[in-house]
Amino acid sequence: MGFKQAGFEILAGVEKEEVYADTFQNNIKKECFILDLSKQPKIPVDYNNVDVLIGGPPCQGFSLSGNRDVDDERNSLISVFLDYVEAIDPKTVVIENVEGIKSLGEEFELIQNKLNSYGYFLNYYQLDCSKYNVPQKRERVIVIADKKYIPNKPMQVNNTPKVKDFIYDIDEDHVNHEIPNQDDNTIQRIAQTNQGEPLYENYNQRIRLNENELAPTIVCGGTRPQPQLAHPKEDRGLTVHERARLQTFPKEYIFCGGKVDGRVQTGNAVPPNLSKSIAQAIKKMPENKGVFDY
Ligand SMILES: C[S@@+](CC[C@H](N)C(=O)[O-])C[C@H]1O[C@@H](n2cnc3c(N)ncnc32)[C@H](O)[C@@H]1O
Repeated sequence: MGFKQAGFEILAGVEKEEVYADTFQNNIKKECFILDLSKQPKIPVDYNNVDVLIGGPPCQGFSLSGNRDVDDERNSLISVFLDYVEAIDPKTVVIENVEGIKSLGEEFELIQNKLNSYGYFLNYYQLDCSKYNVPQKRERVIVIADKKYIPNKPMQVNNTPKVKDFIYDIDEDHVNHEIPNQDDNTIQRIAQTNQGEPLYENYNQRIRLNENELAPTIVCGGTRPQPQLAHPKEDRGLTVHERARLQTFPKEYIFCGGKVDGRVQTGNAVPPNLSKSIAQAIKKMPENKGVFDY
């Protein structure tokens, strides 16, 4: 989304899950091919026409919040993605992942070594999303690689976003603004929790939001009925639309599927305000003085 907002023409997307592909197609207005990349299918786009290839390989294998497993088969999608880089040979490559990737060692070295061997200059950054106008404590590692220029760090935005700047700026009639069904115990628990405080003991990622602060990292949350985050003023969990706004999706962006699909997609996403800054940094690359940051 952020690349589109920065003026890039989107050629196509690729996704394994039909519902997520529908979301891409309905909002980006470009085809999203439903393919399982682990089987290395040919992607039906004109390989001569690709400037930027963007990959968000699944991160659960790397996540510091999950059980990290170097043998997790999802990690090998990084390797598959690198094979697509070699075949498609774009001018620029962007890879997004969670912060744990750097400490996982081998896979990260693989990214560096392979991209270097394909002739790319590469830099990587651990970015604090709140410095890119995203009202969240969310850190992500971004690798940017280019055939011609040495990538620079995306420019930070000079403001301090707060939950209240986004969570109240919603479309009340939005199809994703369906109030979650919560049992009385959960509603009572929220009612008894002050803004900024945890809803459950020992879970500081599951709180009632403080409207004057950043939100914790918005995660997928699985199928559990209890919300990860409660609304600052209303005694309830967040709607998918509110989660999307905290991830800085535009108000008109619609997530396809049910509430669980919506939570997963909003939790997995790269916040558009961050990806827009990455896209802008790529556009400005010809002006770079060329410094390797590692
Ligand atoms: C971390 S999410 C990235 C989501 C999206 N790119 C974004 O940034 O908003 C990883 C995505 O990879 C998809 N995925 C997982 N395994 C896949 C596979 N074998 N082939 C294609 N897509 C896959 C998942 O369904 C999920 O949507």
